[in-house]
Amino acid sequence: MSFGHAAPREMQPDSFVFTDENLKKAKQVIAKYPPGRQQSAVMALLDLAQRQHDNWLPTVAMDYIADLLEMPRIRVYEVATFYTMYHLAPVGKWHLQVCTTTPCWLRGSDEVMRAIKDKTGLAGNHRHCHGAEREEFTCEEVECLGACVNAPMLQVNDDYYEDLDYDRTCQLIDALKAGKPPQVGSMTGRQGSQAQAGPTSLQHMREQLETAAKARTAAKAADAAPEAAGEAEAAKPAAKRKPKAAAKPAAEDETASSPVKDKAKAEKHPDEQEKSRPADAPGDPRPNDVPSGSPEGGE
Ligand code: FES
Repeated sequence: MSFGHAAPREMQPDSFVFTDENLKKAKQVIAKYPPGRQQSAVMALLDLAQRQHDNWLPTVAMDYIADLLEMPRIRVYEVATFYTMYHLAPVGKWHLQVCTTTPCWLRGSDEVMRAIKDKTGLAGNHRHCHGAEREEFTCEEVECLGACVNAPMLQVNDDYYEDLDYDRTCQLIDALKAGKPPQVGSMTGRQGSQAQAGPTSLQHMREQLETAAKARTAAKAADAAPEAAGEAEAAKPAAKRKPKAAAKPAAEDETASSPVKDKAKAEKHPDEQEKSRPADAPGDPRPNDVPSGSPEGGE
């Protein structure tokens, strides 16, 4: 058996098994598929194996995955040899994948390739390390990587660098050599796939949008002001707080009348009621009163 880009036999390890941690992850991936469909996990498991094995897939790793998924080995080889994301031999510390499909080519992927050649000495495809020593750079041309909107672009290991030209590619490679990969994404600093000249949509509404935003901010500030004042008052020491007139307890208001007070009065002991009645108040005669003109009155 031989693959077009597989590592030579002397570089192939004798065995491969997942680490305990990766085996657990592999089982979690397999469990996502219905019984009998576990072969659908093949791509995820190949990626896991590649990451475990220093960014390349030896043949024994593909065989191990085939056995794990109970599928013919040739089916695993078919997948691994089709996608450029799988490396069948050791790659450099920085593996450069240059998209040369039509949109990137029209936007200058030839210049990206020229910069790579000038900076690394790699002319065209140099997919794998050729010696026992790991090389700093390997490079290959690949098909569309799905970032055409920011073409031309280049993938470095897992990261995309976009909006490249000759100079920006040179700067990128210098930064990689220095071990300081720049911010991923557009190398011109634009956000996502925004137009090169800056925002172009809804410009006629800019003023309206800004006015509405200011009004919202002012309304929020106005809502927050009373709350802040209330919190400041609550934070004052109790002694310094000015009592509110409305908070005066009803019990302090002697003249106040209420059903509760009236009932309490009515339930007073007769003796207390008697004591509290003014001397000249009309009412029933007191028990010790002696009606005038009576024999006891002495008259
Ligand atoms: S053509 Fe290059 S990313 Fe699509």
